[in-house]
Amino acid sequence: MEFIKCKNLEELGQLCANEFKNIIVKKPNAILGLATGSSPIGVYQNLIKMYKNNEISFQQITTFNLDEYLGLKHEYEYNSYRNFMNENLFNAIDVNKNNTFFPCKTSDLLDSKKDYSDYDKEIANKGGLDLLILGIGSNGHIGFNEPGSSKNSTTRVVELTSSTIKDNSRFFNNNINDVPKYAVSMGLQTIYQAKKIVLIVVGESKKQAFEALKNHKEFNADWPCTVLANHPDTKIFYIEN
Ligand code: GLP
Repeated sequence: MEFIKCKNLEELGQLCANEFKNIIVKKPNAILGLATGSSPIGVYQNLIKMYKNNEISFQQITTFNLDEYLGLKHEYEYNSYRNFMNENLFNAIDVNKNNTFFPCKTSDLLDSKKDYSDYDKEIANKGGLDLLILGIGSNGHIGFNEPGSSKNSTTRVVELTSSTIKDNSRFFNNNINDVPKYAVSMGLQTIYQAKKIVLIVVGESKKQAFEALKNHKEFNADWPCTVLANHPDTKIFYIEN
């Protein structure tokens, strides 16, 4: 893991976007793994700028998002991760939306036994993720791999912890009962298999998770982010609080 300290959000957004640009310029049909949340928004804004300046094109790009809510109430459909990506990136670039994938639809019926690992197979069939961007939860989750997740987990139904539900209630008028309790998320193994990973750590609430990441040289299921400890090409972009 390489730790890269950034002066501010602007610098962080630019540096992470450059990681994307380097890949896309070398491989115009790259396979990208994408995250939602506040952390990557600045990166997406920079990618949009690069696209508008004709520095990069997404015409041949395929994307796989990390996760998606299950059982989102209809009135909160705007909070779906598909909608987030449309609004924050896809609508402003030349990506073919048929090549943008999510592990489930928010309207899928909750079936904890349903096998979602075809998502991993689709990623592998396309040659694997060339670059995956990640945010981090205050409890150290990546994607929605909550504490206790197995290192060998693949894309599957996950139950959100009460701390994640509380963190995400800010998008649901602070109404904890309206936050979905389940999601489908790439697993830790799916994430680990990405050829290159960029993780963003910003904000006071991430302090403990960040410490755990720095201090663990091996995977510890209490802090799912530590799966990155042995990943061969992970860069962590952070702002010191
Ligand atoms: C959600 C997402 C994660 C994201 C995390 C942090 O729980 N499933 O992928 O990393 O939130 O979000 P933020 O960047 O808004 O702090």
